[in-house]
Amino acid sequence: MSERRQILVTSALPYANGSLHLGHLLEHIQTDIWVRFQQTRGHDCTYVCADDAHGTAIMLKAEELGISPEAHIDNMKAEHMADFKGFLINHHNYHSTHSDENRQLSSLIYERLKANGHIASRTITQAFDPEKNLFLADRYIKGSCPKCKAEDQYGDNCEVCGATYSPADLINPRSVISGATPVKKDSEHFFFRLPAFEDFLKTWTRSGTLQPEVANKLAEWLDSGLQEWDISRDAPYFGFEIPGEKDKFFYVWLDAPIGYMASHKNLCDRTGADWDAIWNKDSTAELYHFIGKDIVNFHALFWPAMLSSAQFRTPTKVCVHGFLTVNGKKMSKSRGTFINAKSYLEHLNPEYLRYYFAAKLGASVDDLDLNLEDFVNRVNSDLVGKVVNIASRTAKFVQKAGGVLAANPEPELWAQFVDAGESIARCYEDREFGRAMREIMALADTANEYIAAKAPWSLAKEAGKEPEVLAICSLGINMFRALLTYLKPVLPAMTEAAEAFLGETLAWDKPVSYRDGESINDFKPLMTRIDTKAVDAMIEANKQPEPAPEAKATGPLADEPLAAEINFDDFAKVDLRIALIKDAQHVEGADKLLQLTLDIGGETRNVFSGIKSAYQPEDLVGKLTVMVANLAPRKMKFGMSEGMVLAAGPGKKEIYLLEPHAGAKPGQRVM
Ligand code: MSP
Ligand code: ZN
Repeated sequence: MSERRQILVTSALPYANGSLHLGHLLEHIQTDIWVRFQQTRGHDCTYVCADDAHGTAIMLKAEELGISPEAHIDNMKAEHMADFKGFLINHHNYHSTHSDENRQLSSLIYERLKANGHIASRTITQAFDPEKNLFLADRYIKGSCPKCKAEDQYGDNCEVCGATYSPADLINPRSVISGATPVKKDSEHFFFRLPAFEDFLKTWTRSGTLQPEVANKLAEWLDSGLQEWDISRDAPYFGFEIPGEKDKFFYVWLDAPIGYMASHKNLCDRTGADWDAIWNKDSTAELYHFIGKDIVNFHALFWPAMLSSAQFRTPTKVCVHGFLTVNGKKMSKSRGTFINAKSYLEHLNPEYLRYYFAAKLGASVDDLDLNLEDFVNRVNSDLVGKVVNIASRTAKFVQKAGGVLAANPEPELWAQFVDAGESIARCYEDREFGRAMREIMALADTANEYIAAKAPWSLAKEAGKEPEVLAICSLGINMFRALLTYLKPVLPAMTEAAEAFLGETLAWDKPVSYRDGESINDFKPLMTRIDTKAVDAMIEANKQPEPAPEAKATGPLADEPLAAEINFDDFAKVDLRIALIKDAQHVEGADKLLQLTLDIGGETRNVFSGIKSAYQPEDLVGKLTVMVANLAPRKMKFGMSEGMVLAAGPGKKEIYLLEPHAGAKPGQRVM
């Protein structure tokens, strides 16, 4: 086979502020299959990852939980590592961006960029939360859409009408964190001079490093001109302080990809491997990043530019995948399809999902759908019905005949299984896993057809046919060996169990050879069928009520929030009475007031009330209303006012006097 390649592979670093879901697993399963493929082919392939532990979101999450950010990221890392292990993801190292290695490398790279004149600084104006003392990124500001007036929209776009705008345009903007109205504040920021790399990036993105559709997308950006990239954030921030600056931190996306180098450094420091051999700018080793389509600009523009300025090598390939959908829709908490990694493992075998993803993955950036019905059918039919079936139908006859494999009765048929290897390997190499699985299943069909046609179970009943039965079933076992060799990157646990049964380690560093004259061990069931009930139970367990729409005041209540709380005794001091409006008059020289004569059941009160803009005196006479009857009399320009009537509304024409339901009598107390 080809020369031994040296390859370093990464998956994107999951944020340390939440649990893993099946979308993350799509990425790590894709990467892990590719890595295991390279390893089984005999290459030197190392896979590193880490938690992405910095940023405002993580700082706020820790605060919400009432723990330090360090404690929070430690907890998350332990959870993430356990989940990945459960899915048989074989990271050689799982580190954290909040590590000494990453601090040192981030400083080193920053210093090099600076020395090369690739760091600029200038003062910018940003939204600031005056209560939290925190600069606010767009997603931390909400308000009403300047275009359609829809309430509760984020700072950069409206989900109702689709308008895009800047947070400064929002009506009644507020900080999502404290509710305070953001103010504008100046601060010095540091920028990476990305435009200096325009020519470099135009070449780099077209040099086989990216899928064509990704390169085309980036070309749009490159052609419309690159902007300098803001790489600093002000305190308070959970991250690394920028060397030589006070209260300035590296933006999380500056040190996140450096986390790939840091995780690898941490591994090399423990194993004695040569870190520099991979990362030096003339390195001939290969560097592969697997990422989702949402983070392409960070990996295919900023990252290669930074590496190039800092005199490190650039990636060989950035492999971009699409997003996971479930049953054709975006994952949803209310539908139970936002499936938590741990919860999947509590209900189902990880290899079911590894196989299903493999069967559907290609090298494109198309989204991938987990259709749960198709998932059950495909796994049951392909893995249990086709692959495992070959061994379970033939192993017992080999055992009965003494357990030693016999010579190959059908060299031509067997040759198909050997020859398919190179084409399947090419599919794996090109990340066309779906095509690889189809080729493997076509072989499995061939094997099953052969066994069905030969019907060793019938032959076994005929005297003297033992050698023929053994030869057929030995070929069956060998075909099973070939299939599992090809499936090993996808199904590491099932392969391990099969290896125990076969008494050998399956490797693919050379074409599969026919095994005979050697014994095999007892066959034990390798995989059971997926029970639909387990899938239903998992969906049920992941169902979360739709987050209740944030109860929030709108209109009058928002304009005038409730007054401070009072106790009952405070309220009881106010003596409210039903009053009959006996008379109502204009007041000479007063443009807002009407003079009311109120009967509260035998006694009358004279009240001046500012309701002239909304009422004609004659419309009021004879009506009942409510008055504050024990208010201290107040001397006004036009005479004494002995109480007040109750009314609502903003003023002018909109004043609404209270009126009791029919039956109330003047003088009755209102409680
Ligand atoms: N922390 C950054 C990555 C830094 S890499 C130097 C980040 N983290 S993330 O947790 O939001 O996402 C991690 C990876 O998971 C990304 O590649 C992202 O595209 C991928 N996915 C997150 N949700 C996904 C799906 N629903 N489907 C497929 N992949 C998805 O981004
Ligand atoms: Zn709108």
